[in-house]
Amino acid sequence: MPVSGHRTHWTSLSVFLHWSIVVFVIAQWIEGEFMADFWDGTLDGKALDQSTIILGYTHIVLGTLVLVAAAVRLLDRFVNGRPPHPENEPTWASILARVTHALLYAVLLGMPVLGIAAWFTGSDAIAGYHTFFWNPLLALIGLHIAGALAQHFWFRTGALRRMLPGVRHTA
Ligand code: HEM
Ligand code: HEM
Repeated sequence: MPVSGHRTHWTSLSVFLHWSIVVFVIAQWIEGEFMADFWDGTLDGKALDQSTIILGYTHIVLGTLVLVAAAVRLLDRFVNGRPPHPENEPTWASILARVTHALLYAVLLGMPVLGIAAWFTGSDAIAGYHTFFWNPLLALIGLHIAGALAQHFWFRTGALRRMLPGVRHTA
């Protein structure tokens, strides 16, 4: 049974997975263009240099790990619940946070699924849908980071602190 609202902190697994996803997404940003070369070269049957091949496969592996980490995080949330939304923030901020989190999850799960589908079908159209979601993801991450900083410095809740490793504060 989900016990949402009864916890005062995120599980250590959930915190670990949150920051793992951050590292993987930054890596996708850095090696993304090598994946684009790897993809074009593979479709056209061109010879590719070793760094393109290695970074291309890195993209596939880390992208799949984002999918797994986001899915496990959602499962952990369903089983163990999540800490309540901070009380000393206005309702609009709480609603905006919920919507942003839901959209973040949708893209974190959807992007790798589309990437894998493109890879196994060799479809450029699906690859196009995959990369289409990159800018919306960046916009959501920007909004999310602004929200996390606003929680800390403006609304002065413990929301940011409780997402830090080893910290068990309530909001
Ligand atoms: C959340 C995880 C992922 C993110 C954030 C992500 C991000 C990106 C980005 C930003 C690009 C465009 C690079 C550029 O044009 O400069 C790209 C390309 C690509 N990605 Fe991913 N990716 C993820 C997961 C995956 C996975 C699991 C696969 C599976 C094979 C994959 C397959 C591809 C392919 C085939 C392309 C080339 C598409 C093209 O050039 O038209 N991606 N990805
Ligand atoms: C790639 C970048 C990031 C992604 C994809 C991401 C994703 C997410 C997601 C999906 C949640 C929802 C948690 C849930 O309701 O289950 C979350 C929570 C959270 N994130 Fe991030 N995050 C990123 C970067 C950051 C950064 C840089 C910070 C700090 C400045 C941060 C701080 C937080 C905090 C404090 C929460 C918990 C909110 C609460 O307790 O209600 N995140 N993140």
